[in-house]
Order: sequence, then structure tokens, then C-alpha cells
Amino acid sequence: MRLDLAGKAVLVTGAASGIGLACVQAFLVEGARVGALDRASSPALGDDVLAVHADVTDERAVAAAVDAVADRFGGLDVVVGCAGISGPVGTPVTETSVADFAAVMAVNVTGQFLVVKHAAPWLTAAGGSVVLLASDSAFTSAPGMVPYGASKGAVVAMTRALAVDLPGVRVNCVCPSVVDTPMARGDLGDVLDDPAFPVQTPEDVAWQVLHLASPRSRTVNGQAVLADFGVSAHSGFPA
Ligand SMILES: NC(=O)c1ccc[n+]([C@@H]2O[C@H](COP(=O)([O-])OP(=O)(O)OC[C@H]3O[C@@H](n4cnc5c(N)ncnc54)[C@H](O)[C@@H]3O)[C@@H](O)[C@H]2O)c1
Repeated sequence: MRLDLAGKAVLVTGAASGIGLACVQAFLVEGARVGALDRASSPALGDDVLAVHADVTDERAVAAAVDAVADRFGGLDVVVGCAGISGPVGTPVTETSVADFAAVMAVNVTGQFLVVKHAAPWLTAAGGSVVLLASDSAFTSAPGMVPYGASKGAVVAMTRALAVDLPGVRVNCVCPSVVDTPMARGDLGDVLDDPAFPVQTPEDVAWQVLHLASPRSRTVNGQAVLADFGVSAHSGFPA
């Protein structure tokens, strides 16, 4: 199936690792040009990639990085917000500090807000598409994940609000279950190798991101796509 992404100008945040890096690589395969934003160094990926350094919680840095990418490519067609942190996974709410809660919200919510805020003027001119990384943690939880779940629920709600707020720009989010990335390895370790535990690849997520980013998904707007192998579809009914 054609995605019609060749030549598109794409900005990916969190581009140095995991899902963001897989998205960069997938857009390049489709012939897009990619601005790779991260607070860490991104790997060298060729002439069609402009690496920009910024912390998504720093508004001035975000504004400068977004403008640098849009200037280089003559605008923006697609923004993908992958930058995120998991925070104190496994810590009960009674032991979660305000600082830890605020740090997760700053990156996962404020960071997404800032990137879209500063990309929006470029996207509106082009009639573009935004895809944000939320998580299945917006809808379901494990113990000790209150900050992360709160932040991802906010991303789902913000996706709808942005879709309404930005005429001519489609805004959707993806909500994957556990993905084998450095983040998940750091939180869960060898559990990811248990064949009984469904784990997806960064490339699985990138495919969904590209599908939503594609102009061929022009009818899809304000949606949260939950991809969890059907786990959340199971009723608690004892049958
Ligand atoms: N791995 C999973 O199981 C999983 C599941 C669902 C959703 N997600 C979400 O997918 C996104 C990507 O996660 P991942 O698993 O690829 O993680 P990762 O740790 O492999 O990559 C995250 C990237 O974001 C960057 N980053 C973090 N904070 C930043 C900041 N303040 N400014 C700029 N860059 C920053 C990091 O440097 C890193 O390159 C996150 O939003 C995460 O919440 C992950």
C-alpha cells in the first residue's frame, strides 16, 4: 500500500532511541526528510536527516529546533512526538514525590504541548498531521505507575483537544502496550524475554505512526489507536 510520504518534511522527537528512532528510519525508507529532535545525540542517518538538539521541556529550545527543521525543509508536513520518560515505575503513590510526578508530566505532557505549539504554524500552512505517543497506560495500569498513567491519559485528551483546536491539521495518538526499547528494558528487564508476555517491536509502532501520518488516513482525526494484542478487550467475566 502506498503511504504517499515521499518528500514530506517530518519532525520526530525522542528520535535518538527506541520508537522515535524506528520512526525516523521508517520515514526515511518512504523517502521523507526528517528532523530528528532529542536531548541526546542522534545516530548519523544520512543527508535526509537534520539532527537538532533540544529538551522538550525547554520552550525556547523547542521553538528554535522546530524552526531550524522547518527552515531547512521549507515547512513541516508531519510531527511525531515520541520523547517521553517512564518515571518511577514500581513506586507506590504514597512514596511518589511531587518532583517525580512533575518531571513525568513535564516531559510527557508539557513537552508534547510545546512541540505542537511551535510546529503548528508550519503545519497549518502545509495542512499537516501530528501523531503523539501515548500508551496503553492511558487506559489500563499496573501497580506503581501513577505518574506515567496520568501523563498518557493527558496525551489522549490533549490529542482530541488539539484536533479540534488546529483546523486543517489532523492530530492522532498511538497507545502501544509494552515495546522492546531501552525504556522498557530499563523498567522491566528480562520480563521482556518471557514468551508468555506479549511484547511489540519499535517497528510495529512505527508502522502505526506512519499509517496515521499518511495523507491516505485523511479521515482519521482526534483518535487514540490502542494496540495491545487485544489484551484490554478481555472481560473479567469468569468464562
Ligand atoms: N517502550 C514502551 O513500552 C512504550 C509503550 C508505550 C508508549 N511508549 C512511549 O513511547 C515513547 C518513546 O519511548 P521509548 O520506549 O522509545 O523510550 P526510549 O527511552 O528508548 O526513547 C525515548 C527518547 O526520548 C528522549 N527524551 C526523553 N526525555 C526527553 C526530553 N526532555 N527532551 C528531549 N528528548 C527526550 C530520550 O533521550 C530518548 O532518545 C515515549 O513517549 C513512551 O512513553 C513506550
